[in-house]
Amino acid sequence: PYVVTENCIKCKYTDCVEVCPVDCFYEGENMLVIHPDECIDCGVCEPECPAEAIKPDTESGLESWLALNRDYAAMWPNLTTKRDALPDAKEWDGKPDKLALLSP
Ligand code: SF4
Ligand code: F3S
Repeated sequence: PYVVTENCIKCKYTDCVEVCPVDCFYEGENMLVIHPDECIDCGVCEPECPAEAIKPDTESGLESWLALNRDYAAMWPNLTTKRDALPDAKEWDGKPDKLALLSP
């Protein structure tokens, strides 16, 4: 599957949900995740993310992000339509160490 990674946090542009054919994005307060068992690996969401936060899990080092996507997809509500990005999305885009700021 594809996974949402750190740079989504505090940006949450939501362009990704518009293109997903199986509606497998789930929404937390300041991040989205992909349900790894529902994602069909089509890849269309990856280029849509302005923050380049979506990666295939075949990339190395993404094990913890895959687990995080799985855990939160089980808890958060489904999101299928785009909403406004978070207000300071541009400022937070590319900032390091955002994991500590994730709102569960
Ligand atoms: Fe949805 Fe395809 Fe992205 Fe998976 S890779 S989350 S199925 S758009
Ligand atoms: Fe996050 Fe990118 Fe989607 S910032 S909400 S993964 S478009």
